[in-house]
Amino acid sequence: MKVVKNISLKNLNTFGVDVKSKYFVEIYSEEELKQALNSGEYSNHQKLILGGGSNILFTKDYDGLVIKNSIPGIKLLDEDSKKVIVEAGAGVIWDELVKYCVDYNFGGIENLSYIPGTVGAAPIQNIGAYGQELEEIFYELNGIYIDSCETKNFNKSECSFSYRSSIFKNELKNKFIITSVKLKLNKNPNVNLSYNSVKKEVEKKNIKQPTIKDIREIVIAIRKSKLPDPVEIGNAGSFFKNPVITKEKFKVLKEEYPDLKHFFVDENNVKIFAAWLIEKCGWKGKRFGDTGTHKLQPLVIVNYGNASGKEIYEISKMIKSDVKTIFYITLKNEVNIIN
Ligand code: FAD
Ligand code: EPU
Repeated sequence: MKVVKNISLKNLNTFGVDVKSKYFVEIYSEEELKQALNSGEYSNHQKLILGGGSNILFTKDYDGLVIKNSIPGIKLLDEDSKKVIVEAGAGVIWDELVKYCVDYNFGGIENLSYIPGTVGAAPIQNIGAYGQELEEIFYELNGIYIDSCETKNFNKSECSFSYRSSIFKNELKNKFIITSVKLKLNKNPNVNLSYNSVKKEVEKKNIKQPTIKDIREIVIAIRKSKLPDPVEIGNAGSFFKNPVITKEKFKVLKEEYPDLKHFFVDENNVKIFAAWLIEKCGWKGKRFGDTGTHKLQPLVIVNYGNASGKEIYEISKMIKSDVKTIFYITLKNEVNIIN
């Protein structure tokens, strides 16, 4: 374990923002993590655990210790005739775990193909896409409290998962580090075609009995066609969450904007699309200097090259303000802002 000083984090965040970290260490095991947390030299400094850096925006240099999580390993822990428990180290690349499971025909994870980042970050916002959310296959996780170095195991109900949220993004924000995650998957999978664009693609390809491998390929192709590749244009996926509003508020909006799409979350609340709100405010593809919104998906704020974290953050605030003025809706950030 080697702690280095004043290193650039440009290649460690998918926005490609060029900030420095006062101290930086990469850890490959729980023991190394404890060593980093226990070291007296850094005890008075703030600490930040970093995975793939694909859901984070640094607005300035980080005046503390950044711990890059690279804890490896995927293993099959247990199985019966129907289910299998797979455990992965928090530093494993999420899509490598998805591929591993799909290759063994362990189902329930395939619609979450190609989401950037690490396994350890997946529970933080309960990652979701194309009709699946992590919580549906989540079994339990292990981790360490930053202050006490105590280990703790969380079962599903203790994680308080909801749409793009969990206890780790709220009460335990910056207090707990996930070291491994266990998932419970199906050995006889049923494919999930609940997301319209996935279903349409299956029909278009005339696949009569789609496998989870087919779904993985379709989801990857849709994602590549819709979202910018951070290697080419810096971004962190959706910058904001899709807002959930009351049925009453929705009715009023729908009268004024008949093309407003929605779906019911429960009998009193509906989810609408942040991308639509942002586009209606005239923000689609808008560019200021090296930042702006993506031309195909305005919910994605991009860095065309040398935008600073502060400039990107300012743009996000301008978008929020316009949406608030026009629709009286407050967008909530999905991306974790490091001020
Ligand atoms: P990081 O960005 O490194 O960290 C995110 C947050 O989690 C930070 O606050 C960090 O401190 C904390 N954290 C990281 N690791 C740990 C740990 N081990 N223990 C405790 N805290 C930790 N997300 C979706 O849900 N669905 C999508 O479809 C989706 N599509 C995306 C597409 C693109 C092109 C991009 C760039 C991002 C997308 N995202 C999506 C967001 C992102 O991929 C996920 O949020 C992912 O889980 C982030 O993983 P990471 O390892 O990069 O986390
Ligand atoms: N839309 C517009 N204009 C656009 C693009 C989209 O109005 O330019 C509207 C359309 O009505 C469209 C709707 O937005 O039908 C939804 O668009 P899309 O299918 O692209 O999905 P999204 O709601 O914008 C969410 C997630 C994504 C996830 C996809 C697929 C959130 C905040 N975002 O995006 O997650 O990949 O669905 O499930 O929930 C992420 O979290 O970083 C992320 C990329």
